[in-house]
Amino acid sequence: MHKQMGFKKPIQSIDFEENVIKKMKNRDVEGVEYHVMDAMHMTFDAASFDYAIDKGTLDALCADKSPETASKVVDYFNEIIRVLNTKGGTYIIVSLLQDFILDALINFFSKGIGNFHHEENIFEVRIQKIEKVAHKVNPDGSSLLPFFITIKRT
Ligand SMILES: C[S@@+](CC[C@H](N)C(=O)[O-])C[C@H]1O[C@@H](n2cnc3c(N)ncnc32)[C@H](O)[C@@H]1O
Repeated sequence: MHKQMGFKKPIQSIDFEENVIKKMKNRDVEGVEYHVMDAMHMTFDAASFDYAIDKGTLDALCADKSPETASKVVDYFNEIIRVLNTKGGTYIIVSLLQDFILDALINFFSKGIGNFHHEENIFEVRIQKIEKVAHKVNPDGSSLLPFFITIKRT
């Protein structure tokens, strides 16, 4: 699958919970390497990825409207853009996109607020709602994340 999709390097998958990574490793998916790692302080080199994919991690980090959370999310975004390629690096998020998450994304990626590198208007932000999953709830009570957000460094 990994090779069929044309990836030249293994996909790097992280979570800071050891038990989550253990579970994922047991699935033994070809072309994926797993690491117990904090997304706020990644050990990857700067500009080492074309894509960063975030499914539910931003939602976990940005769980309320407090100033402390807002500041943590700014640090997280700075860490994401540090590891992304400086030209065309793309951050893809699957999210519930609550209003305060949308605000955090617009402030950082469109207005440049909190961006350590003072990068303003260099990100192309696209938001897509996946109608089919918008109201679906899993058997365990969790709901599917109905928004795809694509943020590309231009
Ligand atoms: C909603 S779950 C999504 C899990 C998985 N991506 C999925 O789609 O099934 C959020 C995950 O983010 C992880 N997480 C939260 N904060 C993190 C951080 N600072 N660094 C790494 N992982 C984090 C949690 O341990 C949890 O597994």
